[in-house]
Amino acid sequence: MKLKLKNVFLAYFLVSIAGLLYALVQLGQPCDCLPPLRAAAEQLRQKDLRISQLQAELRRPPPAPAQPPEPEVRPTIYVVTPTYARLVQKAELVRLSQTLSLVPRLHWLLVEDAEGPTPLVSGLLAASGLLFTHLVVLTPKAQRLREGEPGWVHPRGVEQRNKALDWLRGRGGAVGGEKDPPPPGTQGVVYFADDDNTYSRELFEEMRWTRGVSVWPVGLVGGLRFEGPQVQDGRVVGFHTAWEPNRPFPVDMAGFAVALPLLLAKPNAQFDSTAPRGHLESSLLSHLVDPKDLEPRAANCTRGTGVAYTDREAQDEAGGAAAAAGPGLRPSS
Ligand SMILES: *[C@@H]1O[C@H](CO)[C@@H](O)[C@H](O)[C@H]1NC(C)=O
Repeated sequence: MKLKLKNVFLAYFLVSIAGLLYALVQLGQPCDCLPPLRAAAEQLRQKDLRISQLQAELRRPPPAPAQPPEPEVRPTIYVVTPTYARLVQKAELVRLSQTLSLVPRLHWLLVEDAEGPTPLVSGLLAASGLLFTHLVVLTPKAQRLREGEPGWVHPRGVEQRNKALDWLRGRGGAVGGEKDPPPPGTQGVVYFADDDNTYSRELFEEMRWTRGVSVWPVGLVGGLRFEGPQVQDGRVVGFHTAWEPNRPFPVDMAGFAVALPLLLAKPNAQFDSTAPRGHLESSLLSHLVDPKDLEPRAANCTRGTGVAYTDREAQDEAGGAAAAAGPGLRPSS
């Protein structure tokens, strides 16, 4: 019994020593728990930094509200139409006014060649539903066509177009419709549309954002199936025309539009009634733009614009010349 107790005690002693030794050995081992601790500390530091940044941001006064961007207003198209009394006048004006009513943001300047406003035109304008200004100016006797004289002896509509330019420049003269000229800074474009032509509605969107003077092809004019600028690399380099190609601007009245601010900036730019045949357009445009700065529209003037002269005289002329001009012409839409 005595011996047994001693053995038990010895065993207990040995186990304790072994435990102690194990514990001592473990204490000496390098601890591998430091890197995660450091990482946690670094994360905490980053979070503190972010919090103090956010607090600083909160203390800063709020930034001044940004100016709302000026909404770009769609420019108004001012369509200038000279008109005179004749059998087909009402039919032509009905057709034109109904084309124009398909176009948003459009202002029609209808200028009568007459002593005073006629009931036919006043009534037609009132019924048209269009935004319009009614103007009147009688062509001086010296510039009138005499019976049987061909149309090119005196260019028609010169006084009337200039009357519309006067109104746009604030010189008044309206006998009906909107009497006040465009307020200063108005974004707009001016187009001269005679009452005997055909115009596609798409044409008006081509011209709307004109910065200076824009150009495009016109059909059945100048004895050709179409006439228009020649474009290379997006620039006008010449003109496709059968007649006097050396005119400064061999473009037709229906083949260009002018930005309103440009017209207002050049108060002397107007049509010259004494200009030689075919030079009427040049008499205005040479005040306004260098031919190389013309802005080609209608896919670099490759697309028909639906502008065409429809009067009998022009059609007869075009019929003959189209055959002479031969194949290779692009169709005029
Ligand atoms: C016109 O031509 C220019 C230069 O070749 C080109 O960059 C532009 O995209 C063309 N425009 C259209 C509408 O085809």
